[in-house]
Amino acid sequence: MSAVSRGAVLALDQGTSGTKGLLVEEDGRVVATAHRPLTQQYPEPGWVEQDPAVLWRSVTGVAEELAARAATAGTRVVGLGLSVQREAVLVWDPDTGAALSPLVSWQDRRTAERCAKLTASPEGELISGRTGLPVDPMFSATKAEWLLDRLDPSREAATAGRLRVGTVDAWLLHRLTGGATDATETGCASRTQLVRVDDAAWDPDLLDLFRIPRTALPRIAASDGTGEELGHTRNVPGLADGLPIAAVLGDSHAALFAQSHGRPGVVKATYGTGASLMVLNPEGHRPAGGIAATLAWRRTRDGGAAHALEANIASAGTAIRWAAQLLGTDSAGIAALAVDAREASEVYLVPAFSGLGAPYWDRGARALLVGMDFDTGPAEVARAAVESMAFQVADTLSRFDTVLGGPVAELRADGGPTGNDRLMALQAELIGRPVLRAGRPEVSALGVAYLAGTALGVWDDADLPGLTPQGTRFASHEDDAWRNRRMAGWHDAVACARGKRT
Ligand code: G3P
Repeated sequence: MSAVSRGAVLALDQGTSGTKGLLVEEDGRVVATAHRPLTQQYPEPGWVEQDPAVLWRSVTGVAEELAARAATAGTRVVGLGLSVQREAVLVWDPDTGAALSPLVSWQDRRTAERCAKLTASPEGELISGRTGLPVDPMFSATKAEWLLDRLDPSREAATAGRLRVGTVDAWLLHRLTGGATDATETGCASRTQLVRVDDAAWDPDLLDLFRIPRTALPRIAASDGTGEELGHTRNVPGLADGLPIAAVLGDSHAALFAQSHGRPGVVKATYGTGASLMVLNPEGHRPAGGIAATLAWRRTRDGGAAHALEANIASAGTAIRWAAQLLGTDSAGIAALAVDAREASEVYLVPAFSGLGAPYWDRGARALLVGMDFDTGPAEVARAAVESMAFQVADTLSRFDTVLGGPVAELRADGGPTGNDRLMALQAELIGRPVLRAGRPEVSALGVAYLAGTALGVWDDADLPGLTPQGTRFASHEDDAWRNRRMAGWHDAVACARGKRT
């Protein structure tokens, strides 16, 4: 790969709750950050949408602000990295890039019935066998089918290539390049449930099953390049034309890249709206126990895609948001309240607000709060909300121990909620091993900046550990008896939420 002259990488992280951006200098310093919040719309129960036009403005707003900051910081932007929320899907006009549908979120459950029917049919096995993913409305396929059923029931326009259906990365690549790039990144494509995990290609049988013409889908691209693969900027407000888009990653994959520098052996948990635990899987461990097989990325220089194992916890930060609404505060207020909870209280919140994802994958489960007495108040509820994240991650990590054939030595943690020291300390206690919290909260943006920088020749892989901000280590002090008691209380609560008794 030819080296491009040095400077700063502009990294954008287009997430569910907003678009963040970082400007990362060649010496690794983050010289500027920018952020634009985003809202979601809930037009019907279970439906979750975002407005693509507002989302695009958030991307250009962040890019424009960072480009201006680069000028004042005396550096120049040498290329872009883009990390994105995954699985959310929309339809657009491939000629103009105009969105023809809302963005249907990964959290949207409008296709729950379709998924339940598929799961109960022989196709359920076919889908999960080929894609590595459980059949669930979170993934794009059934939502893409739903959108096309409304917009193009005969599939005439889609077959003629007059409609594009795809994920946020593909639409943003189209928009950022003025329509020149018609591609989706490998890791993001693997989350659509239309791609074979074995060879990273659209699966014709699955396209038939969901009635998605191949002509309506973009090409599957590598995750990095110097511009040939992913394109160059064109007509983006505030950005110069011709900047190479040097890396695109799903946000969870980008966090894994930041935490591992692309090397196997690191298990990370990203705590966000939901939570995602992920590890590279070059050994080909078989997914089981609520853990899915997926593709992390495909680096141009490697040829093939990097395989990974991932577990998606449906509700993590949403439990905090729920508790904050209930108690009339915000997430900082929940963290502060939780400190005052009575030590002896053992209240458990099972945040199955839209059922449970990993490691249980039980969409019929219902959220509940158990273990209350007359002394239970806001502090105990707040603490139960915070702890629900740690319990779910602990349960999921133990499945990773099984799938990987031995205990994971330590857990790397990142994402907004990990700023809560008590959560991190409890997490270490519940898993009985250390938790290493990332040194910066914007790990997805950092990860895609690193990948972009290596593609552009700003850094070598060997430089990345030296660039990465120092994290904080949380050790475990409690004994197994304490851990087993707390986990048993949680498991009883989960069994109640699932309508079962242990
Ligand atoms: O799988 C969904 C995930 O990619 C969304 O992440 O950070 O936007 O909540 P986030």
